[in-house]
Amino acid sequence: MTDLWIGTSWKMNKTLDEARAWTTGLVDALGDSAPAGIQPFVIPSFTATTTVRALLGQDSPVLLGVQNAHWEDAGAWTGEVSVPQAKDAGAQLVEIGHSERREHFGETVETTRLKVAAALRHGLTPLLCIGEDAQVKAEGGSSAFILEQAAGALDGLDAAELSRVVIAYEPIWAIGEKGRPATVEELREPFAALAEAYGDRVAGLLYGGSVNLDNAADLLGIEHVTGLFVGRTAWKLEDYLELLRIAEAHRAG
Ligand code: 13P
Repeated sequence: MTDLWIGTSWKMNKTLDEARAWTTGLVDALGDSAPAGIQPFVIPSFTATTTVRALLGQDSPVLLGVQNAHWEDAGAWTGEVSVPQAKDAGAQLVEIGHSERREHFGETVETTRLKVAAALRHGLTPLLCIGEDAQVKAEGGSSAFILEQAAGALDGLDAAELSRVVIAYEPIWAIGEKGRPATVEELREPFAALAEAYGDRVAGLLYGGSVNLDNAADLLGIEHVTGLFVGRTAWKLEDYLELLRIAEAHRAG
């Protein structure tokens, strides 16, 4: 059985003191191992990568990621961070194509494809985010839209490369303060479509968007969902630990 991935991106949040407090608390709570069958992950801002790595230690059961990375290894790309730099700072995951980056920073299907390839080239796990907006959903095009985003980003990968990719389906209408959580019913079809296209061929199919302590168990119960990618709820450590407990209980059946 594949692990349940339960993780968070802090987005543009947390000072170093706040990052230290969250990470120290997590290390104290988990000790040397994650709950059985659970793969925790945390994706801080770049500024906190080395700090979080130092506190987690080298052999942590918690994977550490960055929220973006450039596709080139080095060069004249002011303001960007490369995959080798992220790896050097201790990252194991690279988040790619979050809708906030597509909307505000010009991320395209082509740049997601280049970034997935760069992450794989350097031995990091690409966490590819896909998701449609409210209009596409209203028109009934959700599954076709996300399959096209995924196919574009994963174009040309062989089976071994694909098996290292994690996909997070995060409908834009479900994310953040203005979003509302997707219902179990709304998620069945997109996850069935993703499972048919990628299912066992990728490392995980995650759901993200207004995950909270009340809906996490139901979301984990959706067929083909193998994890949760969480924003606001997980920024408070106690609630992230509770999400891990919910996932552990779900895994235990
Ligand atoms: P929220 O859980 O705050 O809606 O954010 C989800 C998200 O965008 C994770 O990447």
